[in-house]
Order: sequence, then C-alpha cells, then structure tokens
Amino acid sequence: MKTGILGGTFNPIHNAHLSLGKAAKEQFKLDKLVFMPAARPAYKDPRQLVSFEDRMEMTRLAVEEVLGGEKNGYFLSDLEFKRPGNTYTCDTLAYLTKEEPDTEFYFIIGGDSLMWIDEWKDPANIVNKCTLLVAERGETRLRILKEKAESLKKTINARIEFIDYPCNFVSSSDIRRKIKSGDAKPTDLPSSVIDYIDKKELYGCCKDGKYFTADEIQAFTKDMEATLSTFRFQHSLGVAYTSAALAMVYGVAVDKATAAGLLHDSAKEIPHDEQERLCDQKGICLTDTERRLKQLIHGKLAAGLLQEKYGIKDEDFLNSIRNHVVGRPAMSRLEQIVFCADFLEPQRDFVMDPPLKDIRSLVFRDIDKATAMILKATIEFLREKGKEIDTSMETTFDYYKVFLDNEETVNP
Ligand SMILES: [Fe+2]
Ligand SMILES: [Fe+2]
Repeated sequence: MKTGILGGTFNPIHNAHLSLGKAAKEQFKLDKLVFMPAARPAYKDPRQLVSFEDRMEMTRLAVEEVLGGEKNGYFLSDLEFKRPGNTYTCDTLAYLTKEEPDTEFYFIIGGDSLMWIDEWKDPANIVNKCTLLVAERGETRLRILKEKAESLKKTINARIEFIDYPCNFVSSSDIRRKIKSGDAKPTDLPSSVIDYIDKKELYGCCKDGKYFTADEIQAFTKDMEATLSTFRFQHSLGVAYTSAALAMVYGVAVDKATAAGLLHDSAKEIPHDEQERLCDQKGICLTDTERRLKQLIHGKLAAGLLQEKYGIKDEDFLNSIRNHVVGRPAMSRLEQIVFCADFLEPQRDFVMDPPLKDIRSLVFRDIDKATAMILKATIEFLREKGKEIDTSMETTFDYYKVFLDNEETVNP
C-alpha cells in the first residue's frame, strides 16, 4: 500500500491544495492520499486561524466535492488533533509507520520546508520512514531545490521526488482577503467550502469586513453597564480592551475581540440555579461537572442568550464566549485571546509564580505559551485550595502544556 500524506493548516483549504493532492496521487500511483489538517501550526501564525473543527469540516467538504472522497482514494485524518504532544513530522511518521508497518509513506512538503529540512527535528529519521514529495512552483527555485535534494540524497540517504502540478499561485491569505470582500469564487475554492464559510461567517465575511459596528459595540457597553455590578462591568471593560490589543497583535478582527471581551461575562451574575434552568430551557447541554460546579455554566449560557438577543451567528465569536471559562483544545485565536484576556486584564491581581506581569508581557509575544501558563496556574491554584477541577480544563491543559517547553519565539 502506498499512502501519501498532505498536511497543512488548511485555513481554508482551496483549489491549489486539492490539485496538489490529486497530482501527487496520480504521478506516484498512490493508493491513498490523506489530507491531514494541522491542529497547531508548527510556526507562529498571526493569521486568522479558525478552529480545528471548522478547518476539518471545510477539508472534508472540499475533498468530497472535488476529488470524490474515499471511493476515489482521498481520505481525511484528524490524527494531528487526536495525538497528544508535539506535532513534529518525525513523530507523526513514527506513529503512522508503527500503526501501518506495511505501508509505504509519501510525505508532501513545500519547497521552503525542503530548504530548511536541516532545522527540522530528526531529519534523518524522517527520510528513513518516507519518501518526500516536494511541491514547488517556481522554475528558478526548482533548480536550487533539486541541488538541495541531491545533497540530502548523499548525506542522509533521502528519497526525494518533485511533484509536477498545475501552477496556481493562489494562497490561503489571498483567499481570506477575497472571502472578506465577498469575491471568493469556485475557481479559488470549492463552492461547498464557500457556502460553509458563508453560513458560519468565518474569516469576517460580513459588513465591510466588520462584524460589529461602532454603534453596536457602544450598545453592548451600555447594556453591560446597566445589567452588571460595577466590579463586573469594570472587569468586562478590561477584558474588552486587553482582547482588542491582542487582536491587533494576532491579526484577529478587533471589533469581534472587543465585543467578545465586553460580553463574555454577560450571564455571570444570573443566580446559579437560574443559569441551570435557562440552559435546560434553551436546550444548552450541561455536563455532570457543570451541574455540580455551576460557576462554570455562564460562558455557555451567555453564548446562547447573545445568539437569541442580538441575532449573533458568528460561531467563532460565540465559541470565544462559550469557552472562556475552561478553554478547550485547539482554540481559535479569538477564543485564546478572550481566554487569556479574562485572566490578564489590568484589574486582576493574582499572586503567582511566574508573576502576573510576566505573563501579561508574554501573551503579546507567545499566546500559546501564555495559555499553557494560565491553565497551569489555575489548576495548581484549585488543587492547593482542594477544589474540584473540571476535567475539561485538564483536557485543555493536556493539549497546551507542550508549549511550556517551547523556546519562546517572537510573533511576527
Ligand atoms: Fe467568566
Ligand atoms: Fe471574566
């Protein structure tokens, strides 16, 4: 069995990815071609990264619509999401070759990755486990890459081939710009993916690139001032402007981040029993832990109420409110921003190690590491106090703890 793996952020998947997968499968007579969305991009990505679930679903739709899916040998894998720990290529390949010892793996990489392969974790081990298929579209670069491939063949016995595929310079960032301005066409990405993006309002595909107008944000502020205690309102303002500042750093829509910060605790001061009753009434599912620890419910309830009250449909926005209490694995950037801002806004005064001021500074440089530190500090605090910890928070921490050991990198 010959299996090709095409990994990528797929944010969103578009026609160039699909034609690359098809070309690789046909040229190298692969039995299977597996699209494998990355849960955590290996590099710092300031772009508007939507949730893993959305990227996975868009990939499924695209593979089905354009390539005919499994019946034609095109598969989808959520391995990068399910597998705990790092998502280094060598670990992915070690896992795959252990699971399927008789399969011959072909790993598709871009030209840049080949140039920098010496920087990868354990390149000799990678090339020992698969044939690298290189996708490169520029003629000049192709010559340089072929020289690089020759040298790798000699030094680490690498098997490297080049994929011949239709030249199409479309990039995910161009596509996101087109989506935002309503110009995305089926020549860029499959219509089922365009429909999905439209339906879920991903990538800010709404009013002039803005989801909320200044008047709407002002109205939210007034609403919160009228319904929350002074303390909670001040906290909400702090989360709003901390979220806005983080949104600027991480390339997320500032209006959405501001509004999410303002509204995240909008249901927090409703009495706990009433929160539970409202959730039951509106069909919002609660876990057993949430029924015991009712202080966890307010995020879910707020998302439901805001949807109803203001007609907000943007799933990423609602998720950032729904999941701000304990987070979840592979949060979108907006979700991470609200989660961190809730902990770090200027009124917070936790005594912790490392000091809060250090995490406040870190979050603007490395939000993944800051997320992990916040989760760790919260879990340790609850443990010290002998309080019950929601298993969802532990699951979130299991996902992010890998970033604790990361060398801190500066986001571009
Ligand atoms: Fe909250
Ligand atoms: Fe809060």
